[in-house]
Amino acid sequence: MGPKTNRNTQVLLARRPQGAPTEKDFRIVETPMPETRPGTVLVQNLYLSLDPYMRGRMNDAKSYIPPIEIEAVMGGGTVGKVIRSDIADMPEGAIVEGLLGWQAFAVAKPKALRIVDPTLAPISTALGILGMPGLTAYFGLLDLGKPEPGDTVVVSAASGAVGSIVGQIAKRQGCRTVGVVGTEEKARYILDTLGYDVAINYQTTDNLRTAIRDAAPDGVNVYFDNVGGPVTDAVFNNLALRARIVICGQISLYNASRQEMGPRNLTQILMTRSRIEGFIVFDYLDRYPEGLKDLSTWLANGEITYKEDIVDGLQNAPRTFIGLLEGKNFGKQLIKIAEA
Ligand SMILES: NC(=O)c1ccc[n+]([C@@H]2O[C@H](COP(=O)([O-])OP(=O)(O)OC[C@H]3O[C@@H](n4cnc5c(N)ncnc54)[C@H](OP(=O)(O)O)[C@@H]3O)[C@@H](O)[C@H]2O)c1
Repeated sequence: MGPKTNRNTQVLLARRPQGAPTEKDFRIVETPMPETRPGTVLVQNLYLSLDPYMRGRMNDAKSYIPPIEIEAVMGGGTVGKVIRSDIADMPEGAIVEGLLGWQAFAVAKPKALRIVDPTLAPISTALGILGMPGLTAYFGLLDLGKPEPGDTVVVSAASGAVGSIVGQIAKRQGCRTVGVVGTEEKARYILDTLGYDVAINYQTTDNLRTAIRDAAPDGVNVYFDNVGGPVTDAVFNNLALRARIVICGQISLYNASRQEMGPRNLTQILMTRSRIEGFIVFDYLDRYPEGLKDLSTWLANGEITYKEDIVDGLQNAPRTFIGLLEGKNFGKQLIKIAEA
């Protein structure tokens, strides 16, 4: 098969952002096509996943994954096609998912890649509902949130890649679901398509605390937190006894140049005997097959659905990523790099 060009396109981290990233923090370069070595395959990336966690990797700070070095290719999940291979289990034409970064082509070892079945669903879903965000929703909600039928589950960033799946799984578990979103369009979508019982627009609601109280009169049993900040403060004021709080993301703080000191509102945790737990999906690596089996069955049965926000062209990745951190995406944010 082989590539039709001898050039690669890559997006590099040019410098570390101060606060919100700008396009100047990235550099797009043309480089020679990477060479395969024995035991590796050449992959043409077709879709790039843009995810909020990438903002943390642009800082020179200790985290659960190392920072991206200056002048290195931006890291990220991709779905692509194997175009050069002498490995029987991963032949040319195979569709694979892996962490191959913001670039058009990459060389990888087969063990770093997952083969995607293109007959199951569109291949882009391997970066969304049938990939990392779907698994985050699945294990975060079911393992840490432990939703019981009749529980009220509140989800922030409720229309997004993770939140949209959390709400649907919670509904499937017989829970009452309340989603917090940033636009009226997202509010309509989570009510009409995702089956949320209540939508709260945090951008237009005067008093979030009373809005959550009205939406959850018996208190919040499970809070799946994707955002932190004022939304989380308002939920903490409305917890039921022995609530479970899953700290999945804190996107409202990712661009902050100074770290907030101390969790707020801990009196509410004390009074309600609630449990707060941090969650990182990678801890569930050995259970991914279990999660993917359930998610693909529910998707095939029509029990859950998804929405993608696809932008064409790798050159648009920096601008689109900046928009993701401002809530401009509507659904799982993807960049289409090339035609399948
Ligand atoms: N722990 C893990 O293993 C893990 C894995 C995957 C993702 N995550 C986290 O989960 C969260 C959601 O990720 P995702 O991929 O599903 O992204 P997403 O929800 O598809 O997109 C991000 C959304 O966050 C909302 N947002 C942005 N700034 C905000 C602010 N200041 N306050 C409140 N909401 C804001 C926006 O929606 P609105 O317009 O509705 O505000 C935006 O559309 C992120 O925090 C991410 O880091 C964690």
